[in-house]
Amino acid sequence: MDTIHTTENTTDEPIAVCASDALAEGGQGVRFRVLLGQEESSAFVIRVNNGVRGYVNRCSHVPVELDWNYAQFLDDSGLHIVCATHGATYDGETGACLGGPCSGSALRALQVSEANGEVLWQPDAGVKPHPDGIED
Ligand code: FES
Repeated sequence: MDTIHTTENTTDEPIAVCASDALAEGGQGVRFRVLLGQEESSAFVIRVNNGVRGYVNRCSHVPVELDWNYAQFLDDSGLHIVCATHGATYDGETGACLGGPCSGSALRALQVSEANGEVLWQPDAGVKPHPDGIED
């Protein structure tokens, strides 16, 4: 008799990405390494409007990294993520496209939270920790 295996991994433990105080409101983010499907990619966490948000570091226009300097994602308002390549603008809280060549498509959001002074990432079926470690 065949055994049925589910491919959806819901048992991954949350992973500590950085200390909570590493993320200033509207400031620099923290990058980490992930697998997006089978592909190596980076991801990042930022603090926007007093909440931690996380996204895959990949523009929805062309799949390039977003940061304009290493781990710098947000514009001067501290609210919007701006792609360094052609200037697509995303809502830092939701990842939704606000303007530019992202043309209505959003960033890939990650499940992130904070507990005991740490920023935690919960991997999901589409974005997993890099097998060599998440440190970027
Ligand atoms: S690659 Fe991001 S706006 Fe074109």
